[in-house]
Amino acid sequence: SAAEKGGHDYFMLKEIAEQPQAVADTLLGRLTPRGQLRLDEMRLSDDELREIDKIIIIACGSAFYAGLTAKYAIEHWTRIPCEVELSSEFRYRDPILNRSTLVIAISQSGETMDTLMALRHAREQRARVLAICNTNGSTIPRESDAVLYTHAGPEVGVAATKTFLTQVVACYLIGLYLAQVRESKFGDEVAAEVDQLDRMPQAVEQALGTMEQIRSLARELATAKSVLFIGRHVGYPVALEGALKLKELAYMHAEAFAAGELKHGPIALIEEDLPVVVVVPPRGRDVLHDKIVSNVQEIRARGARTIVLAEEGDESVTPYADVLISLPKVPTLLQPLVATVPLQIFACELAMARGNDVDQPRNLAKSVTVE
Ligand code: G6P
Repeated sequence: SAAEKGGHDYFMLKEIAEQPQAVADTLLGRLTPRGQLRLDEMRLSDDELREIDKIIIIACGSAFYAGLTAKYAIEHWTRIPCEVELSSEFRYRDPILNRSTLVIAISQSGETMDTLMALRHAREQRARVLAICNTNGSTIPRESDAVLYTHAGPEVGVAATKTFLTQVVACYLIGLYLAQVRESKFGDEVAAEVDQLDRMPQAVEQALGTMEQIRSLARELATAKSVLFIGRHVGYPVALEGALKLKELAYMHAEAFAAGELKHGPIALIEEDLPVVVVVPPRGRDVLHDKIVSNVQEIRARGARTIVLAEEGDESVTPYADVLISLPKVPTLLQPLVATVPLQIFACELAMARGNDVDQPRNLAKSVTVE
């Protein structure tokens, strides 16, 4: 009923709107005023965490993209090598694991069979397994050594929205916690990051302000045949997630590329009027930022329609953007938490414009309990 959907037409729209609260709930009780982290529920001791010399994140679907995002932050903060792998690939390639490997299994439902089989394999090899999960008492956390719950609340829409954002937040909490216990970063640097994370609910709220602009854009693009997404650094997993949402909901061909790879092939796809969504990093990262701006320029010069997500006040892209979507000003590593939001809205609105049921997309299940 409409009441269950909080007055929205679809659960997905309700869940998109709940994201500021979901992020706040995932942070709740885990940040201390002194800029320290407290993860009391982590059943791994600080001594155990100090022994970790490799991290492998395993997940499927959107959770995999949350993991790809986390790799950038975790390696930067902890200096521990971090790999990210699809659960279905990990299990069958004879991965190198031992007691000092931390395997992080990310799963909203906690029941995804591919991820469950991967984690069982990891435990057989004596790796320590930490689950990031949204469903209390589900199988994946029960079979793991430790769990950090994303407190996003129930997600009914099949396509992940608030659970994706909170998975990224949970991974960041783990990364910062590891940095804190291992002192791999100066205390004040961890504190500064914690402080920034604490401000994310407001930033996500601000990102929801793009709703009307995206809605009209989605209507204009409802008959497009294909949409490309490009990003770089943490903007790359954002692009992947944006493309996945569009496939799942709008049943359109959508593909994401790392911006630096464009010249190695995908640029051949660029043609007149093709919609290309570009995630531009904050200007703080000068080199990355300028490289993407020149990508936008190249794409535009070939007649594509550029839809550019950039930090508010960033005027460097204005001349090459057919549509400019302003993102709140946040540090680079946190940008996925705001940049994903307009892309969720984009996929949702485009799918609705095409007459699709966004809560129950064809052929998909919320939780896939077969391998
Ligand atoms: C299914 C859903 C996706 C989800 C994936 C992983 O394929 O349709 O939205 O990302 O499973 O689910 P999990 O519950 O493990 O996060």
